[in-house]
Amino acid sequence: MKRLSKTLVLVGMMGAGKTSVGRRLAGALGVQFRDADHEIEAAAGCTVSDIFELFGEEAFRDGERKVLSRLLEEAPHVLATGGGAFMDPDTRTRIKEHAVSVWLKADIELLVSRVSRKDTRPLLRNTDPRAKIEALLKIREPVYAEADVIVISDDGPQDIVVKRIIAAVEPFMNGEPT
Ligand code: S3P
Repeated sequence: MKRLSKTLVLVGMMGAGKTSVGRRLAGALGVQFRDADHEIEAAAGCTVSDIFELFGEEAFRDGERKVLSRLLEEAPHVLATGGGAFMDPDTRTRIKEHAVSVWLKADIELLVSRVSRKDTRPLLRNTDPRAKIEALLKIREPVYAEADVIVISDDGPQDIVVKRIIAAVEPFMNGEPT
C-alpha cells in the first residue's frame, strides 16, 4: 500500500460497520482514526441521542456538516461518518474534493441484526427498525453509490473487509510507498 495521500471516508448505513472497520483500517494503515459522531458529541458535550431529543435532527445535521468540514481539512486519516452524512450535498461535495469515499455496503439482514444490538440510534427508536432501514435504503442507496468505491461489508472477519478496502482504494492513492 502506498502512503495515504487523501483521507478515506467511510459512508453507508447504520450497522454497516463504519466505526469498527474504520478503526481497524486506520490501524492497518498507521494513520489516525476519527469518528464523526464521536467528534460531534465531543463538540456538543452530549450524545447524538440527546442532540436529536433536545435540539432536533436539523441541529444535528448542522453540527455534522461543520464537524465534517473541519475533519476533512486534517491530515490524511480514516474517517467514519454517520449514516446520514453523505446525504448532505455540501458534505458530499467536500468529501469528493478532499477525500476518497468508500461505501461500506451491507445487506438488510446484517444491518438489522447489527442495529438491534444497541439502542443508541435516535432514528430507529419507537419504530420498526427493519421498515425504517428499508425506507432509508431506498432513498440513500443511489446517493451512497456516488462514492468512489463500493466495498461489501459482510459477517466474516473484519480484517477481510479491511483488506478489501485497501485493495479498492489503492488506485486512488498516489503518495510515495511506505
Ligand atoms: C444516522 C446514523 C448514526 C448517527 C445518527 C443518524 C443516520 O450514525 O449519525 O444517529 O442518519 O443514518 P451511524 O451510521 O454510525 O449509526
